[in-house]
Amino acid sequence: IHEESGRNDGEVAMQTLAKCCSCDPDGHGGTCYIAGHGFSIVPTVEMPSMEQNGPRNTTQTRKQKPVLKLCNQPRCAADAISRREILKKQRESLPIASVKERLVQEVKNHDVLIIVGETGSGKTTQLPQFLFNAGFCPNGKVIGITQPRRVAAVTVAKRVAEECGVELGLKVGYSIRFDDKTSSSTRIKYMTDGLLLRVRVKGASCCVLLIADTGSFCHVKGEALLDPYLSRYSVIIVDEAHERTVHTDVLLGLLKNVQRARLKSVIDHAVVNNKKASNGITKENEKGAECTNFLKQCQRKFPPLKLIIMSASLDARLFSEYFGGARAVHVEGRQHHVDIFYTLHAETDYVDAALITVFQIHLEEGPGDILVFLTGQEEIEGVERLVQEQLQKLPEESRKLLTAPIFSSLPSEQQMRVFMPAPAGHRKVILATNIAETSVTIPGVKYVIDPGFIKARSYDPVKGMESLIIIPTSKAQALQRSGRAGREGPGKCFRLYPESEFEKLEDSTKPEIKRCNLSNVILQLKALGVDDIIGFDFLEKPSRAAIQKSLEELFLLGALTDDCKLSDPVGHQMARLPLDPIYSKALILASQFNCLEEMLIAVSMLSVESIFYNPREKSEEAKTAKKCFASPDGDHLTLINVYRAAGELLQKRRMELGIEKNEKNIKGKNEKILRKWCRENFINSRSLRHACDIHRLFTPSTSSFPLEVIFHCSQIRGHVEQMGLPISSCGDDTLQFRRCLAASFFLNAALKQPEGTYRALASGQVVQIHPTSVLHQSKVECVIFDELVQTSQKYIRNTTRIDYLWLTELAPHYYAMQG
Ligand code: CDP
Ligand code: MG
Repeated sequence: IHEESGRNDGEVAMQTLAKCCSCDPDGHGGTCYIAGHGFSIVPTVEMPSMEQNGPRNTTQTRKQKPVLKLCNQPRCAADAISRREILKKQRESLPIASVKERLVQEVKNHDVLIIVGETGSGKTTQLPQFLFNAGFCPNGKVIGITQPRRVAAVTVAKRVAEECGVELGLKVGYSIRFDDKTSSSTRIKYMTDGLLLRVRVKGASCCVLLIADTGSFCHVKGEALLDPYLSRYSVIIVDEAHERTVHTDVLLGLLKNVQRARLKSVIDHAVVNNKKASNGITKENEKGAECTNFLKQCQRKFPPLKLIIMSASLDARLFSEYFGGARAVHVEGRQHHVDIFYTLHAETDYVDAALITVFQIHLEEGPGDILVFLTGQEEIEGVERLVQEQLQKLPEESRKLLTAPIFSSLPSEQQMRVFMPAPAGHRKVILATNIAETSVTIPGVKYVIDPGFIKARSYDPVKGMESLIIIPTSKAQALQRSGRAGREGPGKCFRLYPESEFEKLEDSTKPEIKRCNLSNVILQLKALGVDDIIGFDFLEKPSRAAIQKSLEELFLLGALTDDCKLSDPVGHQMARLPLDPIYSKALILASQFNCLEEMLIAVSMLSVESIFYNPREKSEEAKTAKKCFASPDGDHLTLINVYRAAGELLQKRRMELGIEKNEKNIKGKNEKILRKWCRENFINSRSLRHACDIHRLFTPSTSSFPLEVIFHCSQIRGHVEQMGLPISSCGDDTLQFRRCLAASFFLNAALKQPEGTYRALASGQVVQIHPTSVLHQSKVECVIFDELVQTSQKYIRNTTRIDYLWLTELAPHYYAMQG
């Protein structure tokens, strides 16, 4: 027994039957085996510190960096055939394959079905195919599958298209915000849950259709909305329901209404067409059987919407109760044994501990890929760089380690890299957010490193402040994470915290609807004709205070009228934009301030994760590079400068090249030049590219259904053009732009205090300007900010200098009220 572990009391060990301890005779970190947590044996070891025996102290001569590339997809026909064979075999061996007929039958028998199944059992990829093959898409109807995350929707759609042997966008497609790969022939459609909340009729000037509480048609801007029944869909699968994103929760409420609306239409049809049947329905008299038959005929004409809720968590009770005791089935997974390792002491720097563990595994353990759970893009990219650097210090034969990041905002073609196997002899280390917990299954993982944290939203309805904070995972998440190591064989999970900490974790994560600002959701619900937000049938009700605060915010932004209806035109325009209400307001106002061109760029740049990167070890260089773009007025204009500088670079290059025949070639070269420029300027090229995609003009010709386009898929610029907002530039008169920011972000204003900190005016909180802001230490009097982040301190990020007096001038309804 290791001395430091404190587990030297034989009696304690004996008291727990399942405990079994063994010592390490060398004294190099003992091992203690304890049963529990659903795993048969849980060894606990101390993680030796890198200072003693890790690769950081291994002094190696620097050699040429080996070119490490992940294997590519099949290159020739023979490859493709063998790939198809492999896919077929993989599919047949999935746990869900053995219950295919039963599942299809369950869907036939029940309008609402809850399917609980282990991650990797094949729910997301296989069930839609089973249903398609079983005839669930008659007359061009579509099976829609919602995902909480963009990455999952894209990667799974690609996988399923490959499994079906079809081109993506035909039979199988996906639709996510800013990206739509569907066509009129799409029958299996993956999408984000937020997106299904925003379906609209192509060509109509109004924006939303869907549901009214009663199932009756609702009216927006005087136009009858065309489809309260989601009638293009035969089946909607709400996947990853255990994640309880705010969109999933709201969607479940809305889908419940759609089902009711469809049922009502069946009954209405029966009433109109068959008096006997209507009697039967209302009186339940002796003609019941006859009526039931008639109802069935009607249902064939108006089939019910099949709703399937899929979850990786074992607790299906809540969903079942919500749907009136709906049927729940369990699909067994194939989980191999996973050894869980804890640290003996709490780690002060979990990123550092994760890095050390990566190299320990790489150098000491057998083959198998490593999956590391981190909290966000910045952290992932930081670790990616550190891994590359550490690798250079290793002997050449030990350098066969490849990094593959995955997080929600990563462009989809790059996301696919995590699924590609590493070349022979190499090991892959996947750096992921909690997306890899259940949303995507990455093959080849044998080792999981779990620092035990997630980045989560938190909302204080009293202060009306939303912030992103890093918090410990729940027990359910920790178990999901460790489970990722046992997908294909026995695995190991390294939890970078002591075992005693595990016991203190919450059982499950608090639903997002209870910890976020509800303005966006309320705006959508209002646009869908749901007026009584407090009375809405939520799966779990958000607090009244949170609802009221968000209603107040929408009212202050001018989206709601005095009687809490969507205002015309501002409220309707805001509901139409796939953005946070404050960004939408900024765009709408920008057309009046003659700076829509600039605001479009700013909003696109703010919609992606950090544009600048600041590696710890090159911090000074990065700061100097940033100065070239820095605007003394703040971060918004700085971001615009970066965007424009990148545009000018490409423009200049286009002029140099003239018109070249090979367009593809130019694109490739441009990408390379842009990447180099980004590297030199410490710009995150992924984020910049993503921002450009969002900003780019959308061409509707690529869109999907003849009647329905997905609102979210078009880029912001396309939206504002369609709304008829004049796009003009304020040129060098950036004052207009800043005034516009003050007029729209007035709820996020902060004023300097005598002691140097700032006070957020709406909430009264004491905050500081984030060190990454160009206004950090600038001593400006008054700023607006984009977000409040709470780490060790409360920071405001992305700030711009404004004149305090603009607030009373441009938002008198608020600042006059405040006094
Ligand atoms: O939804 P569930 O977690 O039950 O499983 P799934 O996402 O349908 O994945 C089933 C299997 O397909 C996994 O075991 C993965 O190995 C494989 N898969 C893959 O290789 N690439 C993807 N993009 C998605 C799934
Ligand atoms: Mg799944």
